[in-house]
Amino acid sequence: MVAYRTATLGDAVSIAGLHVKSWQENYRGAFSDAYLDELALGEREKIWHDRLENPLSRQTVIVAEKGEDLVGFVCAFFDVDDDFGTLLDNLHVLKDVQGMGIGKRLMSLIAKEVQDREPNSGLYLWVLESNEAALRFYDRQGGKRLETVEGNDIGDKPIMKVRYHWSSMEKLIDKK
Ligand SMILES: CC(C)(COP(=O)(O)OP(=O)(O)OC[C@H]1O[C@@H](n2cnc3c(N)ncnc32)[C@H](O)[C@@H]1OP(=O)(O)O)[C@@H](O)C(=O)NCCC(=O)NCCS
Repeated sequence: MVAYRTATLGDAVSIAGLHVKSWQENYRGAFSDAYLDELALGEREKIWHDRLENPLSRQTVIVAEKGEDLVGFVCAFFDVDDDFGTLLDNLHVLKDVQGMGIGKRLMSLIAKEVQDREPNSGLYLWVLESNEAALRFYDRQGGKRLETVEGNDIGDKPIMKVRYHWSSMEKLIDKK
């Protein structure tokens, strides 16, 4: 059984580990090998430690656990953009348990929080254009592809990234 809860500072190292493993599996080529294999872990450990030690009031991080193991996480920042609403900043599910509904459930939990805070707010995210499996997943979640732009805000190379947007939380919230 998979359980979902708000992340704490004690999760920072596990989240960073899953984050980098997921990048290594999915972003090889988009980021350099040296970055993925040598630099990313230390950088992500610092970022997750900082995010969870002093959480912003507009930040939420939810983890998925199977037994003792962290198998997924999602992070969002509420009301970042006047036009697009809340930014979903990271969503990663461990490869062994992908396709079991965990990613969808994590998005649903974020959508519920967005709706509870600001019923008319939207949700958006950026995904690498080369990450075809994730594009299909977000299409399946009813996201609208708005634009593709070049960015250099993650990794160590310029990347092409696609903005997805949901104007309403209705489709994302799991009614079960
Ligand atoms: C993308 C990701 C978060 C999806 O999570 P997941 O737990 O594997 O997906 P789910 O099992 O919740 O799938 C939900 C739905 O999307 C569909 N789906 C998931 N991946 C899909 C794919 N690659 N192609 C088509 N449909 C897909 C499922 O079939 C399911 O459909 P349903 O609602 O009809 O049942 C996960 O695969 C992942 O972590 N990938 C690597 C990291 C990554 O790319 N993250 C995104 C960064 S922006």
